[in-house]
Amino acid sequence: MCGIFAYTGAKEAGNLLLEGLVSLEYRGYDSAGIYTPESGVVKTPGAVGALRKKMPKKYEGKSGIAHLRWATHGEPTEVNAHPHTGSGEIWVVHNGIIENFKELKGVLEKKGHTFASKSDTEVLAHLIEEHMKKEKNFEKATLKALNQVRGTYGVAVQYKGEPEKLIAGRMGSPIVLGIGKNENFIASDPSPILKHTKKVVFLNDGEMAVLTPKSHTIYKLTKELVKRAPEELDWSPEEAQKGGYEHFMLKEIMEGPEVIENTLRGRLIPEKGMAKLGGLESVTKELAKIERIIIVACGTAYYAGLVGEYMLEEFAGIPVEVELASEFRYRHPVLNQRTAVLAISQSGETADTLEAIREGKRKGALTLGIVNAVGSTIARETDAGVYNHAGPEMSVASTKALVSQLTALTLLTIFLGRQRGMSAKTGKEIAKELKALPKKLAAILSGKEAIEKLAKKYSGARDFLFIGRKYNFPIALEGAIKLKEISYIHAEGYGAGEMKHGPIAMIDENFPTFALAPKDSVYDKMLSNIEQLKARKGPVIALANEGDKEIGKLADDVVYVPKTLEMLSPILNVVPLQLFAYYFAREKGLDVDRPRNLAKSVTVE
Ligand code: F6R
Repeated sequence: MCGIFAYTGAKEAGNLLLEGLVSLEYRGYDSAGIYTPESGVVKTPGAVGALRKKMPKKYEGKSGIAHLRWATHGEPTEVNAHPHTGSGEIWVVHNGIIENFKELKGVLEKKGHTFASKSDTEVLAHLIEEHMKKEKNFEKATLKALNQVRGTYGVAVQYKGEPEKLIAGRMGSPIVLGIGKNENFIASDPSPILKHTKKVVFLNDGEMAVLTPKSHTIYKLTKELVKRAPEELDWSPEEAQKGGYEHFMLKEIMEGPEVIENTLRGRLIPEKGMAKLGGLESVTKELAKIERIIIVACGTAYYAGLVGEYMLEEFAGIPVEVELASEFRYRHPVLNQRTAVLAISQSGETADTLEAIREGKRKGALTLGIVNAVGSTIARETDAGVYNHAGPEMSVASTKALVSQLTALTLLTIFLGRQRGMSAKTGKEIAKELKALPKKLAAILSGKEAIEKLAKKYSGARDFLFIGRKYNFPIALEGAIKLKEISYIHAEGYGAGEMKHGPIAMIDENFPTFALAPKDSVYDKMLSNIEQLKARKGPVIALANEGDKEIGKLADDVVYVPKTLEMLSPILNVVPLQLFAYYFAREKGLDVDRPRNLAKSVTVE
């Protein structure tokens, strides 16, 4: 998520590190920082431009570490920016979340450590310093500390006393080493490295590397030496930013499993069938009294809200309405203190959604947010909320943000459900299946070539219908919007039950339909709808569960996905539709990441 770049060699590190950060800036960051043992630390809110302005003209050092932060925990302030330190001896830049940082902080405070920030990363710096007291060895102390932390990290660490040496570590957050001639690098992706060397080594989870200008040694956290020859990376800088994918959209779809894990991290208590949402703690009592929720959102986020409505009503027993934010603000909604208005927004800046929240506030409702961008206006103006932790979304078409919105809505359903009538058994069942989702989604993604073929086969179509029922009705709407916005063809999403009330008149052999038909409580009804389409010669692609033999006899093509709970099926089922839209638009040679007439953040009405 955040950007890391570190250098050790013979060049002036200050400028080199700043340039490297610029090539990581494509992700859109909100604070930045740099450290060299010779000139010390400089940190600032803003990105590289702000950092450059703040740095003294003479900023020296032949090695150093630098970071761009995209806030997840804590506001984008100077104190929260990286690098972090304890007493000024050990400096750390970190991507990820240290889950047991509160526990570790408590122990360290008892030993006399005082903390400057609320950051989990600062705890790691103190922990290494604490181990240095006994070990008197930078590598051993870092190894001990990394073995103690739980959660995810990609880190680069530097010790003032050994300026030439850098240590990298990885657990769940990417780290790549750049191997140069008498100089070495650490980065969170290869983009800042490639200008200097094409030789790279990707670290695996549970590995630590020690770099000097002339050497690099990799160990497992269990201390065994790792022998891995560097590979030559023939990527252009732009390819490097996209992780080797052709477009950000595909990269972001492929991040789905990781995104689910990040949204869930530290928030599920599976053994109790409960969810812990730190962002809602301040309003727990008010939430228990809520009698109605109104979800406000736009576009894809609105469809997430529709799935949320089904979940919250079925499992938390709360009446829910979902409103297009652009409509909500212009009518006269009846609200009171026992109504919660919940905004769903990736950017946290969508003008209509923001105004809907303000309208809710004016009328005395409790306002909540499910927001991806930390510190955004909606995040600031709502009374409480849940951050998605999906990382920055670069492609205009929203994909991974939707996966995380649906995951966050499930957590909210468990949270509110357990405050009301949901049994521990149901909570446990949902939690168990939620945890299984990343693997199931990874299996879908590994079959992306089959969806690519399908998109090619249908890419001559001028119209497309998407149908689904119950939990998958909103996913049909999403399938249509995704295809429209990036391939510019006419696509409609419909509740399958509504087909006979109008849209079926359009169907002929040139008008294909994507039918969402997982084996759920409305499966038989979906089969009838598919039969009706086939009776009018309409080509049908069905999305079905693995092992469903019946559907192959009806549909022209089938995309199989693993089975999960009905309420969770949208999280899996939406991804083949995202891939379909992606490959369809790519086949047409369109600018997938920047579709015409659209902006990533709609800050006007
Ligand atoms: C579709 C898409 C848009 C956004 C909508 C809301 O792919 O990206 O429909 O979902 O503009 O944006 P946020 O979530 O930023 O409020």
